[in-house]
Amino acid sequence: MLNARAAVVLDAGADPRLTDVQLREPIGDEVLVRIDAVGICHTDVSVAARFRKLPMVFGHEGAGTVTQTGPDATHRVGDQVVLTFASCGSCPHCLADAPAYCAHSTDLNMRGSRRDETSVLHLDGAPIGGGFFGQSSFCTYAIAGSRNAVTLPEPIDPALAAPLGCSVQTGVGAVLNVLAPQPDDALVVFGAGAVGLSAVMGARISGCDTIIAVDPIAQRRALASELGATVAIDPTAVDAAATVLELTGGVAAVLDTTARPDVLAAAIGVLRPRGTLALVGLGALTAELPVAAIMGKGLTVRGVVEGDSEPQTFIPRLVDLHRRGELPLDKLVSRYPFDEFDRAWTAAKSADVVKPVLITGAVGS
Ligand SMILES: NC(=O)c1ccc[n+]([C@@H]2O[C@H](COP(=O)([O-])OP(=O)(O)OC[C@H]3O[C@@H](n4cnc5c(N)ncnc54)[C@H](O)[C@@H]3O)[C@@H](O)[C@H]2O)c1
Ligand SMILES: [Zn+2]
Ligand SMILES: [Zn+2]
Repeated sequence: MLNARAAVVLDAGADPRLTDVQLREPIGDEVLVRIDAVGICHTDVSVAARFRKLPMVFGHEGAGTVTQTGPDATHRVGDQVVLTFASCGSCPHCLADAPAYCAHSTDLNMRGSRRDETSVLHLDGAPIGGGFFGQSSFCTYAIAGSRNAVTLPEPIDPALAAPLGCSVQTGVGAVLNVLAPQPDDALVVFGAGAVGLSAVMGARISGCDTIIAVDPIAQRRALASELGATVAIDPTAVDAAATVLELTGGVAAVLDTTARPDVLAAAIGVLRPRGTLALVGLGALTAELPVAAIMGKGLTVRGVVEGDSEPQTFIPRLVDLHRRGELPLDKLVSRYPFDEFDRAWTAAKSADVVKPVLITGAVGS
């Protein structure tokens, strides 16, 4: 057993607490990864608040270095990797290069154990929940499978690499892989958090000439403008849907990251005929469907997980976009020492920062 330090949720609804844990050795195609940096995604915050199979370690934006490999792993010790969601590799969706919709996704990413119900993590000699998104990387070490540890093609600062595994992949992928706007299409993003701002960068990469970001937080609107939004709307000051319609007459592509029923209604309302609304937010579980508008305008309303991406190819593509200056990830990231996990978690919950990233002492040592 390897000793490590993890942020563990011990009681229902409680915040994670830094605690000593132990990990077993990697088996099969698993790799043991020293986590150099890990981002906090809003999904960590919302799932942690309602998760009941405790204790549990969250964290699903790990970036680090492979230190040990299982006998069937495809990696080498020393590989720099980004950890992302897990998938089985053999169901019809994985075989169709759509691993985000893996038939075993819930078991592999959300249950807190490996598919065989074992746990890789132990606390005081007893097994605890791990394997969140096939990693549980709020820990100085994590065990991932070869499919969800993506080897990076070139060196990149781990703090900037970490959010590629979820938020950035989701936002950029929703635009490049799903909405696929043409340069003369207008695109609207509701919610300018890490996912929405990544979508703004994706829209700029697509060459969209009109990119509209909607968010009540002034700082986030300013950042959206800096990253490529041509218009930033405060929905608490004006009617966002009416403003979008006034400016554009209707748009081809909308991304909603809020999962708020009122925002979804506005999002559908701004689409032009044959337009598409992509949904990525974890929020309200149901909302009303405006059947007449969707049918009459031939609209598409489409759920998107992890940007529809095939991570082994899409994450290296994101690294390349970053190298070319088209994904200024440093503008999203705020760094915190791993020891200050509480401060980073509080900042994530209160939306004070867009993308808190914890840096372990391993970096640079
Ligand atoms: N589908 C996926 O694969 C996937 C991946 C990552 C994250 N997520 C989910 O996507 C969502 C966004 O993630 P994030 O990290 O960017 O979260 P976030 O909370 O930082 O961003 C949401 C933004 O929405 C804004 N907002 C609130 N009310 C609004 C309104 N009325 N109009 C417009 N904007 C409004 C907030 O100010 C905030 O900036 C979360 O629910 C997260 O769980 C999904
Ligand atoms: Zn699968
Ligand atoms: Zn996430």
